[in-house]
Amino acid sequence: MKVTIIGTGHLGLTAGACFAERGHQVLCVDNQEDKIALLKAGKMPFYESGLEDLVRKNVDLEQLKFTTSLKKGVCFGEIIFIAVPTPPRPDGTVDLDLVKQVAREIGKSMPAKDSFKVIVTKSTVPVLTARKIREIIERLSPEGVEFEVVSNPEFLREGTAVDDFLYPDRIVYGTKSERAGEVMRKLYRSFDGPVFECSPSSAELIKQAANAFLTTKISFINGISEICETSGADVTEVAQGLGMDQRIGEDFLNAGIGYGGICFPKDLKGLLKTSENLGCTFNLLKEVEEINVRQLDLFLAKIKKSLQLLRGKKIAIWGLAFKAHTDDIRGSIAIKVAKSLIAEGTTVTIYEPMILALPRELEVFEGHCLISKDPYECLNDADGLAIATDWPEFEKPNYDEIKARMNKPIIFEGRNLLDPADARSQEIEYHGVGR
Ligand code: UGA
Repeated sequence: MKVTIIGTGHLGLTAGACFAERGHQVLCVDNQEDKIALLKAGKMPFYESGLEDLVRKNVDLEQLKFTTSLKKGVCFGEIIFIAVPTPPRPDGTVDLDLVKQVAREIGKSMPAKDSFKVIVTKSTVPVLTARKIREIIERLSPEGVEFEVVSNPEFLREGTAVDDFLYPDRIVYGTKSERAGEVMRKLYRSFDGPVFECSPSSAELIKQAANAFLTTKISFINGISEICETSGADVTEVAQGLGMDQRIGEDFLNAGIGYGGICFPKDLKGLLKTSENLGCTFNLLKEVEEINVRQLDLFLAKIKKSLQLLRGKKIAIWGLAFKAHTDDIRGSIAIKVAKSLIAEGTTVTIYEPMILALPRELEVFEGHCLISKDPYECLNDADGLAIATDWPEFEKPNYDEIKARMNKPIIFEGRNLLDPADARSQEIEYHGVGR
């Protein structure tokens, strides 16, 4: 099938490469000329495991092409995906300006006749957005144009995006049109995951609800971790015992310093705002957010309590990305840890496997914030080590190196990767989350 993807961010580019991999003809559109030039030259605008190879392979096979012309994209695809960013506004509502702008351009570029186009929202959008997109396109497109708007949310995670897309837990799309449903069935025929067809509004809500539910799970276990700390229970044991109940499940029960990234915080707030705007009360979501903020405060309080005076101290941080297997620092809790410690007068030295130079966001702190290329060199003369990202390489550290290099071997663990008994047996002062 001929597929157009508008937007070449994490979502759009992964979708484009994966549809091409599954045998469709894909044209990716982006209005950033430098980005399209980069992609045409076979280079990636960001890191995502396995994506570069997939893009290159399908470009070589001429299954995947790029353009800056949205008009060309609209003429090309029988299915047109909108995969542009939907950032949060300062009050938490979802900013749909880009989505609406693309919808307007699609409307104006629609060919007059003899074609049926399916416009699909892939971006995460609040419930009832498909209806708005439909109205915009209808208003601007030539009379008699045939099209349908389908909501097809995406559940991929950064770091495992390609596998998540090619082998999804489920494929959800919402449409009331049998004709559009047939197009979507054909599109996904070569994918393995189970398909769930529903109304556009349900599909939109499934996406926001899924992310809100996952953050609820994380905040739930983080709330339990505080009880564990005061009662002497171990949160990793509690999570394991809980997760063995199939109704609960073991995933997303890792206690830590809170969830980050660009999706979870945004989608939780977005759902909260949507529910408020619809006159519904869903205060649980507020508490989920508050626990997430508190988790970081508790972590920082632990560091302060142990080191007493932070001013003039040096703290090493392992991990800066918002989670392992990505170099993405947007919405990263590790960045918040670094900034909070610097604000207290500490110097921080950071080791992050995928980041070798001080990121722009931390440049203003130059002099108080250094990037180290080696995890152990990062520890030289440090008064504490904070582990902020769940990279597997941090799981079994060399305790001799830690003891030799640090002023005093104190570890503040934000992701519960180490074995506390093991660390303590090596005479390390160990502080975990909820254990
Ligand atoms: C998340 C969802 O998992 C995807 O299904 C969704 O498609 C995506 O958002 C999106 O809406 O685009 P992602 O943000 O890539 O994916 O990352 P996750 O792996 O979900 O992790 C998010 C945050 O939660 C990270 O900071 C991670 O460290 C934290 N987390 C995760 C925990 O603190 N505990 C856990 O048990 C799991």
